[in-house]
Amino acid sequence: MNRQACLDRLRTAAPAVLPSLLQCDFGNLEREVRRLEEAGVQALHLDVMDGNFVPNLSYGMPIVHALRQLTALPLDVHLMIREPAKYVRQFREAGADVMTFHIEAVPEPRDLLAQIRALDAASGIALNPGTPLASIAGCLDLCDVVLVMSVNAGFGGQKFNDIALDKLRTVRQQAGPDVLLEVDGGINEKTISSCSAAGGQLFVVGSAIFGQPQYASAVRELTSLAASSL
Ligand code: DX5
Ligand code: ZN
Repeated sequence: MNRQACLDRLRTAAPAVLPSLLQCDFGNLEREVRRLEEAGVQALHLDVMDGNFVPNLSYGMPIVHALRQLTALPLDVHLMIREPAKYVRQFREAGADVMTFHIEAVPEPRDLLAQIRALDAASGIALNPGTPLASIAGCLDLCDVVLVMSVNAGFGGQKFNDIALDKLRTVRQQAGPDVLLEVDGGINEKTISSCSAAGGQLFVVGSAIFGQPQYASAVRELTSLAASSL
């Protein structure tokens, strides 16, 4: 889908829970996607890791492409990789709708953000808990999404770091009203309300969905907690 359609869908959906498929059953990808669609999710969050920028290795374009064949939901691709500029075109061709890369991997991000928009995809910048917001201040005008990490990128199942809350509040003040705020890591029924109150709009959730027997009730519960803390 084109950038504008994707952003319209995400803005309409917010506050929205985006499942991170890192912990899904990859042997039954189609069944997992159907279960998530039936649970009412509005987009899928895909964690791409290269074993270099982060110590963990996950998947790349073939899985994004496979998911693109399975669903019309927006695909929000979180690139935890070095040199993302080398791969954004391929990820776009594979079906990525949002492409978010890390400021720690690309300290001069303006060209790449513009390049992502030139591919008619939504552009995102991510920052780890230890990275100051000042590092992205100079590129907010080119960001469709700011992804505030509430754990160090690399693994699911980590504990939520409160530092994300201050960052969400500050980005909300610094960025234009069109910038979507996303938060990722350790989000569950105990942490989602404060993220929403701090200005988060898109909530990436792995363990608190895939560790549950019923995805639908987990998604419903988390979404209603987020909505009631606006
Ligand atoms: C961490 C990933 C997250 C992760 C979220 O590097 O970016 O998307 O899978 O998983 P939980 O919700 O378990 O922290
Ligand atoms: Zn992620």
